[in-house]
Amino acid sequence: MASPGDGDWWRRAVIYQVYPRSFQDSNGDGIGDLQGIIDRLDYLNDGTPASLGIDAIWLSPTFPSPMKDFGYDVSDYRDVHPDFGTLATMDRLVEECHRRDIRVLLDFVPNHSSDQHPWFVESRSSRQSPKRDWYVWRDPKPDGSPPNNWRGVFGGSAWELDQASGQYYLHSFLVEQPDLNWRNPEVVEAMHNVLRYWMDRGVDGFRIDVMHMVLKHPELLDNPDNPDWKPGDPELWRQRWVNNVNYPDVYGAVKGIRKVLDEYPGRMAVGEVMGNSVHIAAYYGNERLDGLHLAFNFHYINQREPVVTPWEAPILALIARHAEEAMPPGAQPCYAFSNHDRPRFASRHNGDGNGPARARAAALLLLGLRGTPFVYYGEELGMLDVDVPEDRLQDPARFYSFGRDPARTPMQWDASPGRGFSSGEPWLPFGQAEINVAAQSADPGSLLSLYRRALRLRRGEQSLHSGAYHELAATNDVFAFVREAQGARPVVVAVNTGLAPAALPLPPGQWRVLESSHPAIAPPLAGEATLPPLGAAWFALEG
Ligand code: GLC
Repeated sequence: MASPGDGDWWRRAVIYQVYPRSFQDSNGDGIGDLQGIIDRLDYLNDGTPASLGIDAIWLSPTFPSPMKDFGYDVSDYRDVHPDFGTLATMDRLVEECHRRDIRVLLDFVPNHSSDQHPWFVESRSSRQSPKRDWYVWRDPKPDGSPPNNWRGVFGGSAWELDQASGQYYLHSFLVEQPDLNWRNPEVVEAMHNVLRYWMDRGVDGFRIDVMHMVLKHPELLDNPDNPDWKPGDPELWRQRWVNNVNYPDVYGAVKGIRKVLDEYPGRMAVGEVMGNSVHIAAYYGNERLDGLHLAFNFHYINQREPVVTPWEAPILALIARHAEEAMPPGAQPCYAFSNHDRPRFASRHNGDGNGPARARAAALLLLGLRGTPFVYYGEELGMLDVDVPEDRLQDPARFYSFGRDPARTPMQWDASPGRGFSSGEPWLPFGQAEINVAAQSADPGSLLSLYRRALRLRRGEQSLHSGAYHELAATNDVFAFVREAQGARPVVVAVNTGLAPAALPLPPGQWRVLESSHPAIAPPLAGEATLPPLGAAWFALEG
């Protein structure tokens, strides 16, 4: 599907998130690396039905870093961490991906650097440093306390006192992740040049980390108390994050980034953003579409952390409806059902032991919705959260009550002791041996086989990759919608979230089952289809 000069490739693409530490280790140190990814590219797309058939990969950060936040603390934006390889390996990865029609997105982390980045080392060296203003420094309040009441996303104050200079610096995440000052034009220029640097090396775009926090209130005003907070709610909800999240000036920074991307044909950016569907839509740049190409909508994971979005038809429908209503004309949503920050799908929805069944339906929903879907590595196998023993925990950050290690364990290629991932001790423990690529490849009834078929169908079905969205049903148990592109046959996407079979009235005509998460829907159908418990299906209009 993707061809050079196809500037809109990302509209029809399915993008696969690779967590580089956990995909494939090529040198036996127990940590995944870029050569490992190259070795596994045929799994992702070799152009045949035997491969997964994705269009692009996003690599979580691959840059030099002290790894306090596993790469989201960047100490050099223009190089590769030695654990992962070298610049030459990265160049080869990009080349090998392009040979297979796979686009490559890197992770751009503009909000903060590592405290070991030479910019911060210089900035911290004295109040007179020419780089002092590259970060956000403020005097303590008269009583010595932090300049305002902002909290860090990982807990505690967002401010750290630097004893030597007597000022606080802002860190919206870990103490080792000082926030860059995007109000300083030198910072903006330096970060824009980072984008140019990687695009010059051939990368196709970027996932932008915490785009929604890059610009804060110019006077760093306190956040107001949240009147809805109740004891028992997460501490982070105690205040309304209005002066440091989705602060309107951030949209100016977005436009600046877009201009840089537009210097290079066919490149794109997808922003990690939080907020309601109106906040999210604003990152596209409203009617002018001069913002980001895509902005993540995480509402299928959670509408408000850490409360998991229930797998219930009315809620699933509402999320898509709100997203569709908020999108400016010409823009399309971007959904992820999992990523490196959240529990895995099949574990999140496994309260009654039916997580794996729901994961099958989720595959058809995610790939059926209008928008650009992101698939997190291992989700195509139904990988589960792994219980990581206390003494092997790696993630220093605690998102509310849960760490993120359980969803970051190595990809399971086969059932061998090293799971085909590494010949050494893996950096995080493996999950159950049965969940692996080799076993699922051999089984047409596996989740992996379902993903492969669905990806292939989506690619060939214009209505599925490019059609409009019309809601068809949103009952207690059934969420269904029609996708229809001009001149192409319409496709109905339907999910039954209930534990009993459910009826779906079909629009007029004869319908055929294109794909189904669970067997036993008899084709062809007219009038009404019966969806199996926890099942999902795609129906195409016949003739
Ligand atoms: C984003 C990343 C997360 C990281 C944080 C700070 O939310 O997805 O992994 O810890 O930003 O960079």
